[in-house]
Amino acid sequence: MAKILVLYYSRTGHTKTMATTIFDELKTCNAEADLINLKDLYYNTLPEYDAFIIGSPNYFGSMTGEMKSFFDKSVMHYKKLNGKLATAFTSEGIIGGGGDTVLLDILKACMVHLIFQQKEALILL
Ligand SMILES: Cc1cc2nc3c(=O)[nH]c(=O)nc-3n(C[C@H](O)[C@H](O)[C@H](O)COP(=O)(O)O)c2cc1C
Repeated sequence: MAKILVLYYSRTGHTKTMATTIFDELKTCNAEADLINLKDLYYNTLPEYDAFIIGSPNYFGSMTGEMKSFFDKSVMHYKKLNGKLATAFTSEGIIGGGGDTVLLDILKACMVHLIFQQKEALILL
């Protein structure tokens, strides 16, 4: 069975609530999934997962600095995550506050990791 990581950063709890909701739904479907707060992540575990669901609050239309730092550190696994899947979620303060660009921000980083040399996976993103 595919193993899924729901990974989130949250300062005031909104993104954590979304992550918990997603995780609970995965469990309802009997999926094998872990829910991890970014500050508790062990980076060496990343290759164990088949799919990533990554959430960050909207900070000025981008993921937070902490989540960007996650991607920067995750370069230790560059080219080792090929063929895996990823999707993203975000929370924001106002409707139209730029959440769409946050999702693109996260997915752009995921694409470098997950679909390098795997163009067909682009459709799945
Ligand atoms: C530094 C900072 C920048 C923010 N920038 C935006 C923004 O550009 N657009 C928006 O809609 N909300 C913005 N917000 C609001 C947060 O995205 C929102 O409160 C979010 O739900 C916080 O998530 P959390 O509770 O998981 O920490 C910003 C908040 C902070 C602290």
